[in-house]
Amino acid sequence: MNKNAKWITAPRDMGVAATTFRRELTCNKEIKKATLCASAMGNYALFLNGERVGKGVLAPGWTSYKTRVLYQTYDLTSLLRAENRLEISVGQGWAVGYIGHVNTNHCFAERTAVVAWLHIRYADGTEEELVTDEAWDVYTNEVTFTEIYHGETVDKTAPIECIGKAMLDPTVKSKLVPQDGEWITEHERLAPIEIFRTPKGELVLDFGQNMTGYVEVRAKGKRGDRIVIHHAEVLDAEGNFYTGNFRHARNENTYILSGGEDVFKPTYTFQGFRYIQLVEYPFDTVDPDCFRAVVVHSDIKRTGEFRCGNEKINQLYHNIIWGQKSNYLDIPTDCPQRDERLGWTGDAQIFCRTAAINFDVEKFFRKWMRDLAIEQGPDGSIRGTVPDSMPDHPTRISAAWGDVACVVPWELYMAYGNKAMLREQFPTMVRWVEYMHATGEEEFLWLTGQHYGDWLAMDAGEDSYVGATSCDFIASAFFAYSTELLVRAGEVLGKDMTKYREMYQKIRARILEYFFEEDGTPKEKLPLTEVRPAYRLHKPPIDQVRSCMTQTTLVLMLHFRLCPEKDRERYGNMLVQMIRENGNLMSTGFVGTPYLLHALTATGHADVAYELLMEERAPSWLYSVNHGATTMWEHWNSLKEDGTFWSTDMNSFNHYAYGTVYDWIFGAALGIKPTSPAYREIEIAPHPNKCLGWAEGSVESRSGKIRSHWYYKGDVVYYEFDIPEGVTARVTLPGGFTTCLGGGSYRFAE
Ligand code: BGC
Repeated sequence: MNKNAKWITAPRDMGVAATTFRRELTCNKEIKKATLCASAMGNYALFLNGERVGKGVLAPGWTSYKTRVLYQTYDLTSLLRAENRLEISVGQGWAVGYIGHVNTNHCFAERTAVVAWLHIRYADGTEEELVTDEAWDVYTNEVTFTEIYHGETVDKTAPIECIGKAMLDPTVKSKLVPQDGEWITEHERLAPIEIFRTPKGELVLDFGQNMTGYVEVRAKGKRGDRIVIHHAEVLDAEGNFYTGNFRHARNENTYILSGGEDVFKPTYTFQGFRYIQLVEYPFDTVDPDCFRAVVVHSDIKRTGEFRCGNEKINQLYHNIIWGQKSNYLDIPTDCPQRDERLGWTGDAQIFCRTAAINFDVEKFFRKWMRDLAIEQGPDGSIRGTVPDSMPDHPTRISAAWGDVACVVPWELYMAYGNKAMLREQFPTMVRWVEYMHATGEEEFLWLTGQHYGDWLAMDAGEDSYVGATSCDFIASAFFAYSTELLVRAGEVLGKDMTKYREMYQKIRARILEYFFEEDGTPKEKLPLTEVRPAYRLHKPPIDQVRSCMTQTTLVLMLHFRLCPEKDRERYGNMLVQMIRENGNLMSTGFVGTPYLLHALTATGHADVAYELLMEERAPSWLYSVNHGATTMWEHWNSLKEDGTFWSTDMNSFNHYAYGTVYDWIFGAALGIKPTSPAYREIEIAPHPNKCLGWAEGSVESRSGKIRSHWYYKGDVVYYEFDIPEGVTARVTLPGGFTTCLGGGSYRFAE
């Protein structure tokens, strides 16, 4: 960014309205190259001669604004004319408007501001520069209200007037950094599949797909007529429009018609929805062609594909993909609709392996992990959300959430083989492990703390938020896991990891001593160490004694390889027994679910893993599919059998976390696993099962496209594998046949 470019703001506080900064510019000579860089506190849009410039929306994206804000670069070479009007309009966005888990505004900046720099090189070799300064004019904007959570008002009748010259804004101290993530862009345009009246008489359009973005509306009506749109993900039991789960987020877009041909959509915000209600609509009939739901997400490239012979599982896969698209909007969010939409670290770490199979997320995560490193506390702590919007009410430091610091760099290294990111994040990994080491009275366990636990598990009763598994156990197990990943990362980077290797062994040993009986049985009851005040959402109250006799405990012991080798079979059997005793149902939440099917498969119970995959009662993946889901739900029974809702408080219908089951489908059902970074060496060990009929999936890896396909003819299973040149694959078929293969296409039958 050019040093002469200054942060500028409006001469008066524009409050919730957008503002336009304008500059006229004459270019009388032939232009060789014209480049403009711009950024904002707030979300901005760039216009040249009245036309929107660039492929991005919702720029500059969301970073730890107080420390750094990204600027975007635009090529104006072919767009500049002799006389030009350059405009940057800005709305409150993430930086200025209401945001965060306690929902306050001005978290990062008191008011909107912009900065820009245009550099022109003429064909005659001369150069010209235009920067933001006090010479820019400031105008009102047709967007008279904009908030991330509450929606936008576009008033085409609003007078657009100059309110004076721009003022310098010395309050913005953030470092300007070139765009280092993906652009946020528009994608599919969905037409409504149905227009109907609900029993209450609400006029509703159904786009058939829960999604993130906004509805573009075309209208030609009387000047001053209004269109008011509300959004919803689901209908209630009676079939009426339901917005209770949005909590405080109003998600209301109001459009005031100019009298001519209008096209409306929000510029500085977005919504999560499948349905819209036309709360006010000035026409007698609704023309479906006037409405398009525009899907918006980070411009990540699709790399994974999957199909099988079971349509419900195909729908589940579809829901996983749409869950990711809906929540990869510059940062990995928990959900796109209610008054959160935050970079919850736990959700991100749980899902990142699946994410990297589905899409190329290397750049996407590189940017977010940089913000995570910036926000790491001086003691090494990592908060629940990044960016953390509330310094006065920061999110908690919780096990399995903070471990994002170690899990994401390692998973991305395995997926993409890029040592640079591992090197960049290594200090953050070390400090997180040291934080856990220093926390609590025990050196090699993490006892005490305020954790999110096995978030939303149903084994402490349907209303519990943290599940039954001991938070101390989860914290200590993740302490071990992160330390192990740190050791692996250090070894890749050629560091001496003796200290952390020893630390890992000691944590492992202490976990067995503290949480397990001498014969290796998990302890039924454990002392309570949770620090008060208890999380307000704890139901039942937190002072209930927690247990290690849970599915999640066994899953973590197995998947993190914490249980002694000799006990693995026994633990696997115990896990199956617990599932049986639970009526053949899982009882895991955010922490246990991602590894549950892996733990079963690894101990010889792939059949039980398939039973759970195919289960249709809640909790199960197909429960939501059977209830019409088009994205992943936050809670196993977000919508109950009787059509009522699990809660209004924590009930998103677009929460990708449980979509991690795809990394089991890919890694175990299809059987593709990288055993060295970037899939240069892989294992193909499929677990076919007749319940899927056949299955076929692929990943476009950095080493080429890898595909696994199996199908049945009677009881014989046929396998096809595509292995790219330069990749070595160790193939193991269920019957015991093994072989080592290089690049090529292969067929087997067993
Ligand atoms: C979010 C979750 C998040 C959790 C922390 C919720 O409000 O939606 O996905 O991980 O808080 O427990």
